[in-house]
Amino acid sequence: MAEAIRIFDTTLRDGEQAPGFSMQPAEKLRMAHALQELGVDVLEAGFPIASEGDFEGVRTVARECRELSVAGLARAVEADIRRAGEALRPAARPRIHTFIATSDIHLEHKLKKSRAQVLEDAGAAVRLARQYTDDVEFSAEDATRSDLDYLVEVLSAAVEAGASTLNIPDTVGYCVPSEYGALIAALRQRVRGAEKVIFSVHCHNDLGLAVANSLAAVAAGARQIECTINGIGERAGNAALEEIVMATRVRPDQLPYHTRIASEKLYPTSQMLSAITGVQVQPNKAIVGANAFAHEAGIHQDGVLKSPLTYEIMTPQTVGLPQNQLVLGKHSGRHALQARLRALGFELSREQLQAAYNRFSAVADQKKTVREDDLRLIAEQVGATVAEKPVAAV
Ligand code: KIV
Ligand code: ZN
Repeated sequence: MAEAIRIFDTTLRDGEQAPGFSMQPAEKLRMAHALQELGVDVLEAGFPIASEGDFEGVRTVARECRELSVAGLARAVEADIRRAGEALRPAARPRIHTFIATSDIHLEHKLKKSRAQVLEDAGAAVRLARQYTDDVEFSAEDATRSDLDYLVEVLSAAVEAGASTLNIPDTVGYCVPSEYGALIAALRQRVRGAEKVIFSVHCHNDLGLAVANSLAAVAAGARQIECTINGIGERAGNAALEEIVMATRVRPDQLPYHTRIASEKLYPTSQMLSAITGVQVQPNKAIVGANAFAHEAGIHQDGVLKSPLTYEIMTPQTVGLPQNQLVLGKHSGRHALQARLRALGFELSREQLQAAYNRFSAVADQKKTVREDDLRLIAEQVGATVAEKPVAAV
């Protein structure tokens, strides 16, 4: 039986913090509705103390999106928590997400506080947040570079103060999967009251390990994953929601976890984010990149035309893409060319196909991809006949 994993989406908070990704309140609301439709469990809508716009964004999302928990971020300081509590007032299910750093690096260089002070602040923050809502998440920022014994103390204090979710951020994307999994396992054993709370993970992608780390943590007992659409977020980004979800869908034998995500909405949601922010996804991005279901090499195209199983581990429709794409370029073969010309309505004899392929190769050598008008011209040049009914597009 697959275990349920909560998806905590932070596209509108950590994602939005990244350069070039800021959104207006109305844009946040559009994205929030899409995320609700997608099926995320918790939606972190922003950092209310950060600006008037962020406060407004969180408040609007809290008012309008009633079918999920809406979270607002707050440092472990009174003003932040009160501001978050205020922004979340209209929410059906408000969550205050309060955090403080626990690594000596952050204590010494950033907070300029002692361990004892931070321990005190963590408990006080959670207690204050509990005056606004029963649903309080506590994050130990830079947890993965913190002293383990001290981290255990801070997290235990947060549980004692009333936190129901403990988030263990790999803030700087420093961990490797085995290490992160072991950390989650150790914390689940050692934090006092661990059995009463959900352990959450929040991984940054500085070493490209955010998704792998998140999945290792789930194997070690974490039951909430914080992630973003297209993996956007500070620096190299956060764990990509679409990658986590599809990993569990494609490999239930290895990852027996269930999320509420409607996978066929992944691609449209990714596209919406790109349209709103004006930032395109890298073409080779897993699941939602332009090349994720595109094939150019002749051997691959031939295989996919015979059976998509040869080179696709999931169907494009599962993630909301109408179909895969055979891109015609200099690596393509006759089989793909013939299929594409057929789709355009041309029937070719063996000789015509060979002649068309020769011309196609010459054009492909000059251009990155060969377009439909090039193909029509080639078909006409070799005297191909037009079929009465074109074959469905490939
Ligand atoms: O990366 C981080 O540590 C964070 C916390 C605020 C959760 O984003
Ligand atoms: Zn973060």
